[in-house]
Amino acid sequence: MMMATYPTNAELQKMGEWERKAIWRKMPKMELHLHGDIACPIYSDYASGDTAFTEQDILQNIVCNYKIKDLVEFIDKTRMICKIFSNNQKILERCTTEAILAKHREGVVGLEFRFSPAYLAEGCGYSFDEVLDSVFDGIEQAKQQITTPFEVGAIYIGEVGIDDKFSFEDSVDYFLKNREKFIGFDNAGYPAPFSPHAAQFKRLVDAGVNLTLHAGETPPDCNDRLATALDLGAQRIGHGIECVKSPEMMKRLIDQDVILEVCPKSNWITNPAINMNDHPIRRIYDAGVKICINTDDPMMMTNSLHEEYDMLFTHLGFGYEDFVKMNTWALEKSFLSREAKIKLKETYF
Ligand code: HPA
Ligand code: ZN
Repeated sequence: MMMATYPTNAELQKMGEWERKAIWRKMPKMELHLHGDIACPIYSDYASGDTAFTEQDILQNIVCNYKIKDLVEFIDKTRMICKIFSNNQKILERCTTEAILAKHREGVVGLEFRFSPAYLAEGCGYSFDEVLDSVFDGIEQAKQQITTPFEVGAIYIGEVGIDDKFSFEDSVDYFLKNREKFIGFDNAGYPAPFSPHAAQFKRLVDAGVNLTLHAGETPPDCNDRLATALDLGAQRIGHGIECVKSPEMMKRLIDQDVILEVCPKSNWITNPAINMNDHPIRRIYDAGVKICINTDDPMMMTNSLHEEYDMLFTHLGFGYEDFVKMNTWALEKSFLSREAKIKLKETYF
């Protein structure tokens, strides 16, 4: 256990932005919600010759660091990425490595990296096995380059919102066959209803799989979807910020000890109603719901964890101690192995 002296908010307020950001960067951090498979635009140079996409196309069609109409517009943009990844597995491997190394440079010490094999297979023409081979080779290469204690695990995204070549059931089948490679299962992408897939979620829960689901992210995906996610057995929720509209839902999250993986800038981008000075995270935290801070899609949203922390400090008054608390919750709720969590706790928290 490291004994830390925390800078107070008054001390932080006297500092300049860069000095503060250096403090957030240095702080050991957990990140539970990172989409690794849409990490690529920034690494488009690896795609040279294999794509008709120019850098200008990428900036206009994929990079998304400004307010848009809704979540669906964002997911549509994520689908364009396949045009870059197609038919070149090396890009996928390389982007995975780069995405993890970028997190390590930001001071993340415990990382959960999620990706959607069906999206990559359907959009890019790979087999599920090829997707897994590339991503896990990419993770291994990053680990080899990191020399300080660092733990990373992969979450499998199965999408209820895509059902062209592969059904959600196909995704669950494939996941269960490859279960030992993953630390958990998520649903992301287009916010389609969960209920028609209840039997598939039950298979996962019956098999003891760790479940985190994107829910309660933007209207009209409100508390009904969040309630369904909890009914289906989610132990954690991706986003979940719509709970702020329902004191009963916040109480349920507290009673069930569920953590929300909050991604502030992502919410600002995909939800026109969100203003950083009044982001629901403040009210949710004050109500006693466990939360942690994440970037969601850093390569598209051009954000980093230390920038998220600084935004929460300047706009909402969160301070160093709050972030320590959130990272402690994130470690407690992480799906990383018991041994990995003990190692992180002993080294950093
Ligand atoms: N929500 C749903 N699907 C996603 C997201 C998100 O924030 N990011 C990438 N896929
Ligand atoms: Zn997400």
